[in-house]
Amino acid sequence: MAILITGGAGYIGSHTCVRLIESGYDVVVIDNLDNSSAESLRRVEAIVGKKVPFYQNDVRDKDALRRIFTENRIDAVIHFAGLKAVGESAKIPVAYYDNNLISTLYLLEVMAEFDVKRLVFSSSATVYGLSKTMPLVEDMPLGAINPYGRTKYFIEEMLRDLYASDDGWSLALLRYFNPIGAHESGTIGENPRGIPNNLMPYISQVAVGRLPHLNVYGNDYDTVDGTGVRDYIHVVDLAEGHVKAVAWALEHTGCEPFNLGTGKGCSVLQLKDAFEQASGVKIPYVIAPRRPGDPDTVYADASKAKAVLGWEAQRDIAQMCVDTWRWQKNNPNGFES
Ligand code: NAD
Ligand code: UFG
Repeated sequence: MAILITGGAGYIGSHTCVRLIESGYDVVVIDNLDNSSAESLRRVEAIVGKKVPFYQNDVRDKDALRRIFTENRIDAVIHFAGLKAVGESAKIPVAYYDNNLISTLYLLEVMAEFDVKRLVFSSSATVYGLSKTMPLVEDMPLGAINPYGRTKYFIEEMLRDLYASDDGWSLALLRYFNPIGAHESGTIGENPRGIPNNLMPYISQVAVGRLPHLNVYGNDYDTVDGTGVRDYIHVVDLAEGHVKAVAWALEHTGCEPFNLGTGKGCSVLQLKDAFEQASGVKIPYVIAPRRPGDPDTVYADASKAKAVLGWEAQRDIAQMCVDTWRWQKNNPNGFES
């Protein structure tokens, strides 16, 4: 069984390649390396002891997609490729709609040409918008609040329409909560370009001295300690969720959303404390104003993934911090170290 992984050189994609290969699948990667480096795939190869066929192409290049489907017998696709920075998406929305929507449209067209109708799509908890009701359940109303979120919402709608038109498709819409952590080897992990937008890479870059202190965006939320609460999930648990979702897609037809989270909330200060515990490094911080658009609390009801996919997150916050620290300490400048 061969799985095409778009965006396979990226953070979640590289960890998913490892777990898929370890589960007996062949993988083929397409990535334009816009937000990643070929070094991550070399390290994936070192972990699994196997070459990973790699096409350095844009998913919006239909001829490249056709070449991949011609040269490889692809059984299913996992579509990670896309732009993902919420703040940036408000500054350059057209680039986000162009990359995320066009890449998905072209991918679906070429998949249909080659009669490959099994897709696992990287959606996001952001499609729930600013819901006040927690935990978030898959059948709740959707309503993204920024251009990035809307690209995910629009793609989900496209996939629902596609299935309504042809029930031979198998479409798993994975709504990730907050992926953090790294592979247990410490050789692959999150490698953001520039100053990180997200909390965990920011904390770990403070820990290695690349940044002076953490800015905590608001301490007056209605939460346990006033700081924002999120459902952090270990990236390897997430990767294992993809292995289960591919198996589901190979055996069923349907168009189904699944929350991939732990179902547990953790505040900014709780995550900082857990990281200090795991690393033995003090993280200085200052309280800064709230970040516009940030909800106070977000966490998943992950029971559907357990019931239907047989998947459940296994790793706790302490493990997420230990693994992040191992990666960051060994690679203070990411893949450029
Ligand atoms: P990432 O940026 O590390 O990985 C995305 C990869 O796609 C990168 O390697 C990039 O070079 C590649 N890419 C982007 N556009 C491309 C294109 N047009 N053609 C070919 N390659 C392209 O991001 P990630 O954190 O691994 O996220 C993977 C997916 O999961 C994304 O779709 C993202 O929106 C989604 N997601 C991520 C998070 C998160 O917090 N990391 C949360 C929810 C959803
Ligand atoms: N935070 C800080 N300081 C920082 C960064 C973040 O205090 O330097 C706080 C935020 O205010 C929030 C929490 O840490 O309370 C988590 O913030 P992240 O930026 O790490 O994550 P978000 O929940 O805001 O967003 C993430 C992804 C989005 C995705 C969303 C929902 O970045 O792409 O989860 O899944 F849409």
